[in-house]
Amino acid sequence: MPLRCLMLVTICVVLITTEAVSDENVKKAVGEEVSLRPARIDPLVSSIIWKHRNSSGFVVKAIEWDKDDDDGVNIPNQRFKGITTLDEKTGQITITNLTVKHGGLYTIDINNKEQEQRFNLKVMEKVLKPVIKLKKIEGNPDVMYLICEYSETIIWRNSSGEILIGSLHHPKGEFITVKFTGNPDNFYTCTLDNGASTETSDPVYERELFKDFWGFVIASVGMVFIILFLFIPPCHDYCADCCRRHKTSQSGMTFVSE
Ligand SMILES: *[C@@H]1O[C@H](CO)[C@@H](O)[C@H](O)[C@H]1NC(C)=O
Ligand SMILES: *[C@@H]1O[C@H](CO)[C@@H](O)[C@H](O)[C@H]1NC(C)=O
Ligand SMILES: *[C@@H]1O[C@H](CO)[C@@H](O)[C@H](O)[C@H]1NC(C)=O
Repeated sequence: MPLRCLMLVTICVVLITTEAVSDENVKKAVGEEVSLRPARIDPLVSSIIWKHRNSSGFVVKAIEWDKDDDDGVNIPNQRFKGITTLDEKTGQITITNLTVKHGGLYTIDINNKEQEQRFNLKVMEKVLKPVIKLKKIEGNPDVMYLICEYSETIIWRNSSGEILIGSLHHPKGEFITVKFTGNPDNFYTCTLDNGASTETSDPVYERELFKDFWGFVIASVGMVFIILFLFIPPCHDYCADCCRRHKTSQSGMTFVSE
């Protein structure tokens, strides 16, 4: 008895494994199109039926074709009408303008025999375009936090296209710490990826990030220039004068000491 049990379990495991292997996972965004095709097809194909099973286990025919049927291709279900086509030679089904309701398991019958290969289609809403939030750091005018507060996969990039590693932000998303570099044209972006679609934020430029700091830098540079142009020449004269007088007095001292 236990041996038979073990054999049964083994057979089950093998079956489940083979089944899992033949399932192909496909992710698409709403509004996109998908094409699914069997890896092999009998050259003497006389009928094809693509079936769709939704997550509640409800099965409908997506598209069917029979060589002997005068109508040729038939699309019985409203959900697939006007958006579904079939290539009878390759067995490929194409569905355009996908909605979330097209998600589910697709199987194909060729010559009335269900094929092993199955397709698990996931149709996801398009990700929204992210917006980067900015946060100042008290007492550090040359450093800023950039926050991308979303649940999807986040990819940070700088203006040279380099990927930057973010840190976890609570309750969700990621942040990066950006330092003043002195180039106002440097920028940063945040890209969201839900596996079916990606969207990238508008770039955030250094000139926007460190407006106050830039003001401070420009003011300081301005001050230096003002000092250079207004005060240095007279000062230089003054110093030269001062030095000459000092030398004179030094020689005077020498004279006195002699
Ligand atoms: C599956 O399809 C049936 C029939 O169209 C529908 O009533 C049911 O809500 C669907 N389930 C899902 C999860 O879409
Ligand atoms: C796609 O579907 C939307 C909503 O159902 C519809 O408004 C639009 O016209 C469709 N576009 C095409 C190309 O079929
Ligand atoms: C982008 O990041 C990389 C890696 O941190 C760095 O070497 C490069 O200088 C950065 N480029 C800009 C324009 O900030």
